[in-house]
Amino acid sequence: MAPADSSAHSGRLMAVSDVHVGYAENRQLVEGIEAHSPDDWLILAGDVGEIAADILAIWRLMTRRFAKVLWVPGNHELWTAKQDPLRLRGEARYRYLVEAARDLGVLTPEDPYPVWSGEGGPAVVTPLFVPYDYSFRPAGVATRDEALALAHRTGVVCTDEWLLHSDPYPHVDDWCRARVDYTARRLAALDPAIPPVLVNHWPLVRQPTDILRYPVFALWCGTTATADWHLRFRAAAAVYGHLHIPRTTWYDDVRFEEVSMGYPRERVAWEAHGWPFAGPRQILPYVPRPGRAQAGGQRAGGSSAGGTSRAAVSGTVSPDTGAAARS
Ligand SMILES: [Fe+2]
Ligand SMILES: [Fe+2]
Repeated sequence: MAPADSSAHSGRLMAVSDVHVGYAENRQLVEGIEAHSPDDWLILAGDVGEIAADILAIWRLMTRRFAKVLWVPGNHELWTAKQDPLRLRGEARYRYLVEAARDLGVLTPEDPYPVWSGEGGPAVVTPLFVPYDYSFRPAGVATRDEALALAHRTGVVCTDEWLLHSDPYPHVDDWCRARVDYTARRLAALDPAIPPVLVNHWPLVRQPTDILRYPVFALWCGTTATADWHLRFRAAAAVYGHLHIPRTTWYDDVRFEEVSMGYPRERVAWEAHGWPFAGPRQILPYVPRPGRAQAGGQRAGGSSAGGTSRAAVSGTVSPDTGAAARS
């Protein structure tokens, strides 16, 4: 697989995140994902799993099925979980995964950005790695330390605090700042004539976190430093996961697609609401999905009756990002 190309082709740009293959049901679902055309591309938008060997196995499988596979890390890939023989931490773990991806022909946030020139294009697809910096804080909370103290008092603390190490950066917010600088420089250098599809595990804007079951969990969900990137870099669309609240929303007339598969218990709840997991989401060419768009998406603002409805649903399904103190 070439690192980048701009040759004309048909096919579809697909995306899925949070496949969490540590769950047997999820692994079975992922193993069933197929391309519909030899020109289809697949974005894996983070949280493939925690164990390096599992992640590599999925990459290997998908590169055999899709013309191009792109990956961005989620927090789970960055964990140093005790079950994983790979003991690397922080940046070293990320770099290991990048090299392993490249060996398999999977594009990462460190590679040239490929141009989608099929239907719905041209668009440059930009895998990003911009994590979080605790700036999605509750009102009145001024600092990271205050916010973390509040989270510990309320018992809603992301497992990242135990398993995601930021070495050699002192803290993940320092790592995040470095990633924001690096990524903004690369995006600013893009050809302004070709809009990007921005792909990041964590949402680039804060609004999607407004419906979390536990609002304090937004601390681990992004950074305010990227709030205007969809406008500043003239995005065609933005793809993210992490929240386990699959839906389409619009901010400033830019389409944001949350593409997570989520945990088995969450899918059961979505199914009960009439929204079964339907496989990877088609990003380009854009095809509106009337039912889902009404359920989760609204243009320019993000807080219509549809969003309220989704908020109610998200409260019942306990998404990864709000389910429990150490989900
Ligand atoms: Fe996840
Ligand atoms: Fe995540």
